[in-house]
Amino acid sequence: MLCIEPARLSDADDIHRLVTFWADRGDMLHRPIGEIFEAIRDFKVARLGGEVVGCGSLHIMGSDLAEVRSLAVSESVQGKGVGAGIVAACVDDARAFGLERVFALTYRPGFFEKVGFRLANVMEFPQKVWNECVRCPFFTNCKEVAVVMDLADGADLSVPGAG
Ligand SMILES: CC(C)(COP(=O)(O)OP(=O)(O)OC[C@H]1O[C@@H](n2cnc3c(N)ncnc32)[C@H](O)[C@@H]1OP(=O)(O)O)[C@@H](O)C(=O)NCCC(=O)NCCS
Repeated sequence: MLCIEPARLSDADDIHRLVTFWADRGDMLHRPIGEIFEAIRDFKVARLGGEVVGCGSLHIMGSDLAEVRSLAVSESVQGKGVGAGIVAACVDDARAFGLERVFALTYRPGFFEKVGFRLANVMEFPQKVWNECVRCPFFTNCKEVAVVMDLADGADLSVPGAG
């Protein structure tokens, strides 16, 4: 049975493996294992039969804003609602913390639109651009697309079968 839950420290290697798999293919940015340990409390994992088949994290950026990061689903279980379930769990957390907006920078904007986000201008998130993007080697040639969900709108995610 699929289960989406907060990550444990013992999941860090599996998270790193998943993110590295897709980052090596140019689908997302790499995350060093040390960063994953530091951010482990931000992470959700999807488990299927005890195996980690998906991950994603919610990183709080300020009093009203958080970012979904490092969303990755194993090739073998794609298209079964795992990614949507992880995003829904992150959004649930964001609501519980009283955040107003959740954004992501992604090469897969179509997926995020499917799960309730809208396209955005990255400059809506200056704290991201001027604190982090400026240090990224791809800053001047960034192909990621910004997407955002406005939680104050009452936007909702319904994920049949996940959770
Ligand atoms: C993008 C990713 C997380 C999607 O995960 P997934 O578990 O396969 O997606 P889901 O099954 O939850 O899909 C939810 C919906 O989004 C749609 N969808 C999935 N990937 C999509 C894409 N790339 N473009 C448009 N729609 C997409 C699905 O068809 C589904 O729609 P439906 O509800 O009408 O059936 C996964 O493909 C992945 O890990 N990709 C590699 C890493 C990556 O690109 N991460 C993105 C963040 S940078």
